[in-house]
Amino acid sequence: MDNRPIGVFDSGIGGLTVLKEIIEQLPGEDIIYFGDTARIPYGTRSKETVIKYVFQSFRFLLTKNIKAIVIACNTASALAMEEAQKVFQVPIIGVVEPGAKASISATKNNVIGVIGTEGTINSGSYQRKIRKTLPSGEIIGVSCPLFVQIVEEGWENSDVAYLTAQKYLLELKEHNIDTLILGCTHYPALRYTIGKVLGDKVTLINPAYETAKATKVLLKEQNLLSGKSDGGKYNYYVSDDPEKFKRIGGNIIRKEISAVQKINIEN
Ligand code: SIN
Repeated sequence: MDNRPIGVFDSGIGGLTVLKEIIEQLPGEDIIYFGDTARIPYGTRSKETVIKYVFQSFRFLLTKNIKAIVIACNTASALAMEEAQKVFQVPIIGVVEPGAKASISATKNNVIGVIGTEGTINSGSYQRKIRKTLPSGEIIGVSCPLFVQIVEEGWENSDVAYLTAQKYLLELKEHNIDTLILGCTHYPALRYTIGKVLGDKVTLINPAYETAKATKVLLKEQNLLSGKSDGGKYNYYVSDDPEKFKRIGGNIIRKEISAVQKINIEN
């Protein structure tokens, strides 16, 4: 049993979709959330830059006596997870592996699509993880950069979202995928629109849910689960505007976010 908090890290606010799932599946865990809101998006940055940002964020979280770190950001998981595991001693859970595993369990025709930021798709991270277990599988990756802006504008169920999704997802439709990984924290918000474009025969995988499940398994295996079954405490830190985070973040986790502290992550 271990009552120290879990650190949850994201490039910004989207990682709250992962936090929401962790709260549901692990209600007794205390959480320290850090959103690097001053430097979002990570999806268009180089691997070196993302690694630097991830390491700075980890060093901050480690000052909070955390027992494990969840990388909620797909881009950060894809580009920096392996490097972080080499440097930091704390158990680390990323979103890529749980999402990849769930897609393998879901597919029937072994044709899997993955959508994400340019960084995530170009890293080939999801593709590699899936191929390890499913070497004969066909995996088609498509980057959908405009989806992030559409979600941040709150336009996820609009005509703009529908037309954009039709264009981005055409290649996936042509390949007859039966499973699609929503490989960016923002994309689960577009689930309805994506479902409308692809039809109900395509299973949508939300790595946020799978990551919370994987976190629970890891904590249990390493005897790190908290002794509480409910009433976890949540502390939030950001690198830019706490007010915006409170406003938008509260909608995502459907809980009031009352205290958010701004920190200087470049220290
Ligand atoms: C980003 O930081 O560009 C989006 C977050 C993600 O990749 O999940």
